[in-house]
Amino acid sequence: MAKIKTTYFCQNCGAQAAKFIGHCPSCGEWNTYVEEVVEKSNDTAHGWEKKSRSTRADKPKLITEIRYDEEQRVDSGDGELNRVLGGGIVPGSLVLVGGEPGIGKSTLMLQIALKVKTLKVLYITGEESDQQIRMRAERIGFKNPPCYILTETSTQNIFQQIEQLVPEMVVVDSIQTLHTEVIESSSGSISQIRECASEFQRYAKLTGTSVFLIGHITKEGIIAGPKVLEHMVDTVLQFEGDRNYGYRILRTTKNRFGSTSELGIYEMQNSGLREVSNPSELLISQRDEGVSGVAIAATIEGMRPMLIEIQALVSSAAYGTPQRSATGFDSRRLNMLLAVLEKRCGFRLGIKDVFLNIAGGIKVDEPAIDLAVVAAVLSSSEDIPIGQKLCFAAEVGLSGEIRPVNRIEQRISEAEKLGFERIFISKYNRKGLDKIKYNIEIVAVSKIQEIFEKLFG
Ligand code: TYD
Ligand code: MG
Repeated sequence: MAKIKTTYFCQNCGAQAAKFIGHCPSCGEWNTYVEEVVEKSNDTAHGWEKKSRSTRADKPKLITEIRYDEEQRVDSGDGELNRVLGGGIVPGSLVLVGGEPGIGKSTLMLQIALKVKTLKVLYITGEESDQQIRMRAERIGFKNPPCYILTETSTQNIFQQIEQLVPEMVVVDSIQTLHTEVIESSSGSISQIRECASEFQRYAKLTGTSVFLIGHITKEGIIAGPKVLEHMVDTVLQFEGDRNYGYRILRTTKNRFGSTSELGIYEMQNSGLREVSNPSELLISQRDEGVSGVAIAATIEGMRPMLIEIQALVSSAAYGTPQRSATGFDSRRLNMLLAVLEKRCGFRLGIKDVFLNIAGGIKVDEPAIDLAVVAAVLSSSEDIPIGQKLCFAAEVGLSGEIRPVNRIEQRISEAEKLGFERIFISKYNRKGLDKIKYNIEIVAVSKIQEIFEKLFG
């Protein structure tokens, strides 16, 4: 076989060794040696690689001489994915789709592969048989898509097929199952993952094909192969959600071609993932009667305003030490808000258990939901429901002041659109709003004490 030179490197200090050693003699760390390719002979290169090597001779260019075209985007056929990618699929981009096993990564990518009508897609799977893929496709439903399926794990064989098929978009499910013969270690090891990913990276860049790599996330929440892939790819998408809830959230943690604050929302149904274009309807539970401990917050995720439901339960501490628990919200921030309530309003929450939950299993780390959290806690503590047509958008400061939040107009418009009748905001957000005519009553408050009077007084 071809001449390929590999060496083992310590991932901690960079020391080099000819074979694997468990204990690094140079830095003293254990199990840090990983095999890496140091020299590749030309006859192992793939066809497209050889072609481009002979033609490409880059010289330094003056920046003004560099020709550029407006970045083209290809419509993926899926509004949520387009939004998260920053406007569509960028040709030649390498995208990593991470998520826990069973969350729906294969379903999502197969669905996209079937929906992209303008690109010839190759879906490579090392996890399932082609019959399984076909069955899943039947569930999702499709109409004559230009989508090819390949069950293969060796990158050498994959690239041979790619050279013949010349696809315009490639999906790899998953990067952990791939294997390149350049490296000896078994599939799924760090060096295999890295080498396979870098073969796809060169392929994407040299041929202008968009490549989606699916990657499993380990328990600790990192894409297996300790972050090695993140700097290599253009975009990292995380597919997350609670398996007990129907919906899934697609977010970017890195994007060379767009913002990282965008969010896509799907609902897992029997016939695949449904795009949720109006998340507020989904995130607010349908209630017939008012129950105490529930407040609605007007938040913004990325560019998109959403109304979410905050649920609080305040009860006498059953054991000596009161419990505090928050799901979907920072528990330190909850503790701070409780301390503010105690100190500024005299509520004796120090002896109570407080549980907080954001409905729908989503996570929010925006201070603009503070006021809704406070309202939910007060409502539960007093056992008085908050009117169903009320919502909140403000931050709470340490001295109990109600602070302004950004993009208040968008939040108000969203609440108005969804039929809310009253929104509580900071008085500092009031300025400039008078000129706009809203069909929703805007209540401006400046201190946390006022909230109690206005809600229950
Ligand atoms: P899958 O895409 O296999 O997850 P991953 O690739 O991230 O491991 O999806 C697994 C779950 O999705 C499985 O529990 C079944 C469910 N599912 C549906 O509810 N509806 C569907 O139409 C499909 C295809 C899957
Ligand atoms: Mg899968």
